[in-house]
Amino acid sequence: MENRGIYYIDFGTQAHFVEEIEKMNSEYYFKNRRNRMYHIITYGCQMNVHDSEKLAGMLNAMGYIETQNIEEADLIIFNTCAVREHAESRVYGNIGPLKKLKDKKPDLIIGVCGCMPQQVEVAQKLARLFPFLDIIFGTKSLHRFPQLLYKAITEHKTVIDVAEDEDVVAEGIPTARKEGVSAFVNIIYGCNNFCSYCIVPYVRGRERSRRPEEILFEIEQLAANGVKEVTLLGQNVNSYGKDLPDGIPFHKLLEKVNDINGIERIRFVTSHPKDLLDDLIYAMRDLEKVCEHIHLPVQSGSTRILKEMNRHYTKEDYLKLVEKLKNNIPDIAITTDIIVGFPGETEEDFEDTLDVVKKVEFDSAFTFMYSKRRGTRAAQMPNQVPDEVKRERFQRLLKLVEEIALKKNKQMLGNTYEILIDGYAKKNNLLVGRTRTNKVVNVKCSEDFMYKFVNVRILEATEHWLYGEVI
Ligand code: 5AD
Ligand code: SF4
Repeated sequence: MENRGIYYIDFGTQAHFVEEIEKMNSEYYFKNRRNRMYHIITYGCQMNVHDSEKLAGMLNAMGYIETQNIEEADLIIFNTCAVREHAESRVYGNIGPLKKLKDKKPDLIIGVCGCMPQQVEVAQKLARLFPFLDIIFGTKSLHRFPQLLYKAITEHKTVIDVAEDEDVVAEGIPTARKEGVSAFVNIIYGCNNFCSYCIVPYVRGRERSRRPEEILFEIEQLAANGVKEVTLLGQNVNSYGKDLPDGIPFHKLLEKVNDINGIERIRFVTSHPKDLLDDLIYAMRDLEKVCEHIHLPVQSGSTRILKEMNRHYTKEDYLKLVEKLKNNIPDIAITTDIIVGFPGETEEDFEDTLDVVKKVEFDSAFTFMYSKRRGTRAAQMPNQVPDEVKRERFQRLLKLVEEIALKKNKQMLGNTYEILIDGYAKKNNLLVGRTRTNKVVNVKCSEDFMYKFVNVRILEATEHWLYGEVI
């Protein structure tokens, strides 16, 4: 169905391919008394993690089962990230060795999808470097995965689909979320901002919102299945609804999600400072289920660099916005993304970044060294900053960010917080959960508390996690 340039596609159009592959897989099962298995390797952000849940859901529907052991898999998929060069080189490094596995098992299907192959020249490079790949497809073709897989299986050749100019909203893709009571839900795809360093608008397409009724229906279903916490996903959630002829703005969507029985915590990522309106701040203040946490990427503290980055706010705008958030939501945790070494960044610009970090006192920050991305405006800019300068600034920034995170976490010592337990800690037989402000807390408590809310007194604090006991 067409809707002012947005194409809604129902996953039902893939039913034929899902059925055909399912048939092949049940025949395989009856012959071999073993299910065909898949293994997915995911890089990058929460959007990719959620896309992998959709890949898993589609594969389950086609009769595969998941394995954590790559050696026993019949189908291996890399869901890739292109945001920095480092993420891309890891993928190249990890595909190569699979040639050996493929030589041993000629029926093994190997695929690469996500943001890397959405760039046509990268898709071509992958096909050239690794001729043993069976499927190469971009983010925009995710909903067509069964069709591509069917073609790869039946035609025995590399299937490439990067559907460059097709921005769709696909509904009804089966989704296999990991066990637990927290769930990701897409609300808007794509990005229109074209920050000058960023590849995302090129690999995720233009902004397109899901219809509110589809989102609310999905969350109601999740709640009926025991989900207590939802994270609403979008490259820029603050743009939600603007592209729909009868859309509702993001804060109205939050109100509606807040009304859904069974959902107890609402989170969202990511917010762009330029689009964060007072209405959203008031919604965060007034809606009891919306958590006191915002991820608000600042990227740089220098007004001059922010302009070069095409961010549309100044250092002062950002600081004012933070002040407004803190005044309205006193316990709010603010986290951010920061890039050091953007082209032309001087020591003075960098000190502005340190100054913002000190003034805001971020609860935590993802810090990155600027990475040149082909096709973006910043890649053409003169005055690229040398690697050693980037590294030195990165270390100074990280030290400050960690000092502040530790200080903030120590302020929590002795206090009691509501934690939603959602997994096992890495060691010491502890469970792990999060506060409403999204702090990770390792908790000494019985397994009976798994997936439940508990009140925990904080006894130990580091820069990255806290430890506490149930009271
Ligand atoms: N180099 C370094 N970091 C980048 N990011 C996006 N593009 C680049 C790049 N070219 C960072 C931004 C963004 C986060 C997801 O990744 O900080 O918010
Ligand atoms: Fe990239 Fe900027 Fe869009 Fe974020 S808002 S995805 S940094 S272009």
